[in-house]
Amino acid sequence: MEKQPQAATLSRETPPAVGRDTLSVVDNRTGKTYDLPIQNGTVRAMDLRQIKTSPDDFGLMSYDPGFMNTASCKSRITFIDGDKGILLYRGYPIEQIAEQGTYLETAYLILNGELPSKAQYADWVERITLHTMIHENVKELMSGFRYDAHPMGMLASTVAALSTFYPDAKRVHDPLARKLEIQRLIAKIPTLAAFAYRHSMGLPYAYPDNELGYAGNFLNMMFKKTEVKYLVSPVLEKALDVLFILHADHEQNCSTSAMRGIGSSEADPYCAAAGAIGALYGPLHGGANEQVLRMLAEIGSKDKVPAFIKEVKQSGGEVRLMGFGHRVYKNYDPRARILKKMADQVFEVTGRNPLLDIALELERIALEDEYFVKRKLYPNVDFYSGLIYQAMTFPVDLFPVLFAIPRMSGWLAQWQELIEDKEQRIARPRQVYLGASRRDYVPLHRRG
Ligand code: ACO
Repeated sequence: MEKQPQAATLSRETPPAVGRDTLSVVDNRTGKTYDLPIQNGTVRAMDLRQIKTSPDDFGLMSYDPGFMNTASCKSRITFIDGDKGILLYRGYPIEQIAEQGTYLETAYLILNGELPSKAQYADWVERITLHTMIHENVKELMSGFRYDAHPMGMLASTVAALSTFYPDAKRVHDPLARKLEIQRLIAKIPTLAAFAYRHSMGLPYAYPDNELGYAGNFLNMMFKKTEVKYLVSPVLEKALDVLFILHADHEQNCSTSAMRGIGSSEADPYCAAAGAIGALYGPLHGGANEQVLRMLAEIGSKDKVPAFIKEVKQSGGEVRLMGFGHRVYKNYDPRARILKKMADQVFEVTGRNPLLDIALELERIALEDEYFVKRKLYPNVDFYSGLIYQAMTFPVDLFPVLFAIPRMSGWLAQWQELIEDKEQRIARPRQVYLGASRRDYVPLHRRG
């Protein structure tokens, strides 16, 4: 049972003794001292509200654009220690899961808190496999998109459209309804993603193959041509499965916050997930690995790397080394380390991506350069993922879609945690109003 914090108190005397779990705040406008409880390394923003200059004052708020230092929830799903470069799903290190686990096992773990037993795993895999088909009407919906529609736009639209096929999804407080929609979303997102790609290529849709695993079946739906049975390369299937594991969850990032924000109004999970896909679409979130490829192609060759590094340093932040730096990681992103190792295995099958040599040289020079060392800029997950996707012949437009497929399990785990959290309310931030004060309306005919 979690220890309950003390109630916030107003204290007009000397600050309390050192050693208590409180924060004493002196309001210099009034001279009053307030004693705010500290729990889990946080103070409650609502405790600030009692800090007023007069009884009709609204009370103090915290101001935090971009949520740089605001915890919006308590979560038990993912832990990141950015300074040490640690990432845990439900307590398990990402390195161990990536080496020994599968994506579907990871999705089960993230959603349920524990690794499945053999029987639970078999049941889970079967349920996901049986839900991979989509209603034929969704295909018709897809045919309405232009031939060159971006697959991420198609994915967001078709995920939202699924809400109309499963009206029971509205029953967000019914655990059984939630379970079914979670299975459907995890099962159907690879199908929607692959169909969006095939639409853009003018290729007939390839239906799911229930004899293949999650990643293998996705490769089948993407790349199957006229052969009766698509033969999956075990190395590429494993690599894609590892990429899925690495992207499954990453605590309260932009798209997960969107999922929670929309979910907090009790919208169904299809509409909430469509919103999360929208958030992931942005170049500052799901689009960085595409930028890495463009940057490497622009540099062109290994010998031009020092000149590019010089340009980055002299630009004052204007030109960035894409795939480097992270809001949370101030050390090597553990996911990048796994991908760097895996790249060699993939390239043995696909042939070496010529851009890899430029990437390795960039990393070598940047990790020794004072500019990057001082700012704690290390490779992030996007530095190597794009090179691997490209070698596997995924088109660049599809990169954010490849991120959305596994992140679906993380979004859903976070959504479920939100729904079950009695303390959560509809997400409704405050604002600092800087606009005009009250004034009377002037009819148009009297305005100059
Ligand atoms: N190249 C060169 N300089 C950089 C880079 C970079 N990639 N990233 C940060 N810096 C510099 C900034 O110019 C700044 O320097 P200054 O102190 O002299 O002004 C300093 O490092 C701090 O940078 P911020 O922008 O304040 O760091 P923030 O935490 O806000 O940004 C971000 C993190 C957006 C990821 C940033 O590092 C970046 O733009 N990286 C490149 C894009 C990228 O790879 N994004 C993928 C992130 S991973 C993901 O989303 C899955």
